[in-house]
Amino acid sequence: MSLLPQIDTQKIPQHVAIIMDGNGRWAKQKGMARVFGHKNGVKSVRESTEAARELGIKVLTLYAFSTENWNRPKKEVDTLMSLLVSSLKEELKTLQKNDIKLQTIGQLENLPKKAQKELKEVIEVTQNNTSMILNLALSYGSREEIVNTMKNISKKVVNKELSIEEIDEKIINNHLYTFNLPDVDLMIRTSGEKRISNFLLWQIAYAELYFTDVLWPDFRKEDFFKAILDYQHRERRFGKISEQISKP
Ligand code: FPP
Repeated sequence: MSLLPQIDTQKIPQHVAIIMDGNGRWAKQKGMARVFGHKNGVKSVRESTEAARELGIKVLTLYAFSTENWNRPKKEVDTLMSLLVSSLKEELKTLQKNDIKLQTIGQLENLPKKAQKELKEVIEVTQNNTSMILNLALSYGSREEIVNTMKNISKKVVNKELSIEEIDEKIINNHLYTFNLPDVDLMIRTSGEKRISNFLLWQIAYAELYFTDVLWPDFRKEDFFKAILDYQHRERRFGKISEQISKP
């Protein structure tokens, strides 16, 4: 039976971020090459996007490629890049139909030209969609993002566009790659690993963390719903005490 009816539609997280992990191990368990895991991971991307859209989640951020992933064997990197291009081509219609806007965070300039071109196209075509943002983290590292932010803020201080006293959390937020997105409410990591791995370090300050043993290629809509239900049973205090949190 689906978990969907148990979900409280009044307590839907605005921003969910996922560390999609375990593709390699999934393939290994099946005696296949690692890239087989990535290929099967695309279905989980689709199911999670559909589930998020169905629930009315405003932003879904997926960790598709980290700055550290460039160190993987060339064949694996090439496969991931061509999977990205082919998925974008295949999913454009579905994104349009479901009013989903594609966005990216990370150093896009490091991606192969073909991937950059495809991304640019899909971003342009979907730019006016408003129901949900599908935000792909590509060649993304949180520390790199923070370094980039500091450089951009420093430039403004040097150019006297900004004074040091004016620098606050809001200013920093506005210079991150995620400047237009709300804070992450829920971060999910699959495959049993319990690490953040340089993902959205600033943005998860108050996020609930959810870890599941399910390997990414096995992650289905119901697994997504399960994570949301778990989130809804947590008490988010934001530093306050239980009694200060208004209960319905
Ligand atoms: C981690 O598994 C997964 C990745 C590094 C990439 C995820 C990419 C996809 C699911 C494919 C396409 C993406 C989009 C957005 C269309 P791992 O290789 O680290 O697994 P392991 O820890 O078992 O080795």
